[in-house]
Amino acid sequence: SDVMRVPQPPTKPFVGNLFDVDTSKPVQGLMKLAETYGGFFKVSIAGDDMYIAGSQEIVNELCDESRFGKKIDVTLENLRPIVADALFTAHDEEPNWGKAHRILVPAFGPLGVRSMFPGMRDIAEQMMLRWERFGSDAVIDVPADMTRLTLDTISLCAFDFRFNSFYNDELPPFVGAMTGALDKALSRSLRPKFVNALDFTGNRKFDVNTALLHTVAGELIADRRADPNSLAKDDLLGRMLNGRDPETGEGLADENIANQMVTFLVAGHETTSGLLSFTTYLLLRNPEVLDKARALVDEVAGDNVLQLAHLGKLRYLEQILMETLRLWPTAAGFAVAPHETTLLAGKYELTPEDTVMVMSPILHRDTTVWGNDVEAFVPERFDPARAELLPPNAWKPFGNGARACIGRPFAMQEAHLVLAMMLQRFDLALDDPDYELSIHESLTMKPEDLCIRVTARSPSA
Ligand code: HEM
Repeated sequence: SDVMRVPQPPTKPFVGNLFDVDTSKPVQGLMKLAETYGGFFKVSIAGDDMYIAGSQEIVNELCDESRFGKKIDVTLENLRPIVADALFTAHDEEPNWGKAHRILVPAFGPLGVRSMFPGMRDIAEQMMLRWERFGSDAVIDVPADMTRLTLDTISLCAFDFRFNSFYNDELPPFVGAMTGALDKALSRSLRPKFVNALDFTGNRKFDVNTALLHTVAGELIADRRADPNSLAKDDLLGRMLNGRDPETGEGLADENIANQMVTFLVAGHETTSGLLSFTTYLLLRNPEVLDKARALVDEVAGDNVLQLAHLGKLRYLEQILMETLRLWPTAAGFAVAPHETTLLAGKYELTPEDTVMVMSPILHRDTTVWGNDVEAFVPERFDPARAELLPPNAWKPFGNGARACIGRPFAMQEAHLVLAMMLQRFDLALDDPDYELSIHESLTMKPEDLCIRVTARSPSA
């Protein structure tokens, strides 16, 4: 027959390829394996087989939604006890996916996101002020501050709720509960079921954390319902409370709204804070890019308070973010499966039970698409005229098709603004000039121990 065996590293009894992949850094392990096994291979981890896709040719085929769709893989399955059938973790055919998608798409569209600009600038200003006040003697933990920023931004813009993370050393209990629940969900994905079942203490803590998340979300919903003025607010929460699905005429149940709220906080803050952290690192390692971006900001905005209109003239900064997401897509992959048994590339048999992970960091290093300088940080790759020549589905940091990231315009506008403000207001330097990039992996990737010092630029500079 035409069916071929998929390349796979040699397996060991019981553990499969576990030792080929460092379980604390699985994405980086798979990137390494791709150097040997190419754009499509198979691994077996703790009894679960998984296909890894990383060439543009293969990924392009997998992005055909008439043949393939989102798979709720073991990681997403383990998030469902926290957020059930909210947008990120729902199966395509679950009614709440379509309902929430149709109600929320306009709110997350260009118009909806533009209306959130003042909230984004409010929080970004808090971070800038803090950096100015601390002065250049202070060491700034970049991912920690970016996480405060993105968390406060999504909660203010989506629910009109202030975590005030920049005014507290301790992160709020909600954040501890969220991180705890997520870490547990993730560790369950890497261990056999019977091991998970025996972790009574950990499981109890997971339940307590999950309950706290829903209590906080439920309180925010109840506060709105208690007061007609606040119920009329037009933010994301308001749209979920008041919106009707144009197709069924139905609204979202409160329980589902709470699941969506937790989803936005989870999906909306780690990914964007990782993006801003990697961007900071890459700019410090590529001073010619930083200088070019800073000159543009000075020319377009000078010392003026940044406005939405400025961002439209700062396309190069957007390219910096896109190039950062090429090298370090902070949500490193997404899972798909075929609707029917099919042959991939005309030779590899896949069934609906299979899981195929599209690994963006591998895809984004396909030399047939990006050339031989794939590791170089070159935002000019995304000059409009050049980007137009890229083959389809070569750059996928936001996933694919109907199940792609609904928060993309939100994340890009927020990161664009923060990057512009940083360049406008500060000179940046690595605290340790010899810092070597090390990447922490959880649900997302972010640079570990990345610390900088900042010096306010004088207004006349
Ligand atoms: C889906 C990446 C920011 C909310 C996704 C997916 C990716 C992704 C890869 C597809 C996942 C899959 O197929 O399983 C990112 C990155 C971000 C970012 C790299 C920042 C740089 C945000 C923000 C929000 C958000 C700010 C919310 C405010 C969501 C939701 C989904 C999603 C709700 C599920 C959409 C659906 O299936 O209907 N994101 N995301 N994301 N993202 Fe994002």
